[in-house]
Amino acid sequence: MRFCFVYGLSITAVLLVIASSGVAVRLVHQQIADCEYGEDFTDMVYYVKNIFNRKYDSVYDSRIGKYVGYDEYGVKNADHYNNQDWKMLLRKAEVDTLCRYNARQYRISTIDRKVPPTVKVRQTKHADYGERTMFECSVWSFYPQAINVSWLIDGVETVTDVSSTDVLPNEDWTFQLHSYLELILKRGERLTCRVEHSSLVKSLEVDFDTFSLDAKYIKLSVGSIFFCIGFTAAVGGAVYYWWKRRSGFSPVDGREQTSTSLSDL
Ligand SMILES: *[C@@H]1O[C@H](CO)[C@@H](O)[C@H](O)[C@H]1NC(C)=O
Repeated sequence: MRFCFVYGLSITAVLLVIASSGVAVRLVHQQIADCEYGEDFTDMVYYVKNIFNRKYDSVYDSRIGKYVGYDEYGVKNADHYNNQDWKMLLRKAEVDTLCRYNARQYRISTIDRKVPPTVKVRQTKHADYGERTMFECSVWSFYPQAINVSWLIDGVETVTDVSSTDVLPNEDWTFQLHSYLELILKRGERLTCRVEHSSLVKSLEVDFDTFSLDAKYIKLSVGSIFFCIGFTAAVGGAVYYWWKRRSGFSPVDGREQTSTSLSDL
């Protein structure tokens, strides 16, 4: 299969000539540079088309390396051009400097251009586990346009209650897309947004970060731990105090006994 891209460069010159009768005659000269090529640029064909008053006048064809004239005026022009050595050398060089160069630039910025997306998953508004809510998977700044975005719950794809924006163009020739999933998320379930794009070697999977939902439980458990530590310390202290009292001496009592015994001596 032969892919064909046409690179056209058009130069238009308009001449206004006042004829002897005093009526203005409009003469239009157009020139089109046309490069036609396949998947690799080896079979490059270059035309320079001279068009006079909307009729083909003479055309340079790189396959034969010269101009061909189409009518009396055109044949005259073609002969003239074909005898200009500098012009023939220039046209020959332009197969590379104009056609191949631009074809390469065009390919770099279109077919070969790959910009990988950045992906973020969030809740559109806060809701706890067990409450119906909407999740958004935002896929930013990718090129080319073709992309697949899907949702997984614990690694299994879900298609119900999924909606999506169109692929939206950005100003920097990249695209963005936002996919939505309505869901009642259960605690411990893993919600993933999977993105397939030609810029990625393998699909990109981003999990919804449940930290904001788990924070409550984390706070509760941290609170419980501190409560247990505090409670244990309090009970321990009380038991220690009670045990010391029962055993009949304390550091304070001990010092008093010692001083008493010294004065007795
Ligand atoms: C999207 O999915 C379709 C069907 O599975 C696949 O043919 C296509 O290559 C995928 N597109 C991308 C950009 O990965």
